[in-house]
Amino acid sequence: MKLLVLNGPNLNLLGIREPDIYGKKTYADLVRAVKEECRRRNIGVKILQSNSEAALVTAIQKAYGKYDGIIINPAAFTHASVAWLDAVKAVDIPTVEVHLSDVSAREEFRKISYIGLAARKTIAGKGIDGYLEAVAFFANGEKQA
Ligand code: DQA
Repeated sequence: MKLLVLNGPNLNLLGIREPDIYGKKTYADLVRAVKEECRRRNIGVKILQSNSEAALVTAIQKAYGKYDGIIINPAAFTHASVAWLDAVKAVDIPTVEVHLSDVSAREEFRKISYIGLAARKTIAGKGIDGYLEAVAFFANGEKQA
């Protein structure tokens, strides 16, 4: 199994970015935890972060035929990017949406998720553990761990 993990804008600033909301762990900690979980489960993984909407649309397009699942935290583009929704639908790769914070308990605009319309599952409010839960979801054949 091969998974692609995509992270949207400002997630590279984890650790210094609003730590009361996103926690004190850094982006490097996130990458380490996901790689470790995938290694433990014998799953191949590629992890990318970009602040650019176009770069991540291209990454989703290039995933076609190459990955069994996508784990995506679209960050601010969750609430704005129809392009990412369309890209995920176009490649038709099972996708899990992850958010570090509980977006349903924050500002009204964060309750809207375009990617959520195509995601098999949404995990929010569990910090970095949410990514590990998404890996487990795929490892369990897209069933709850
Ligand atoms: C986020 C939530 C988004 O609303 C926000 O724009 C982010 C991060 C999260 O992981 O909690 O950048 O996706």
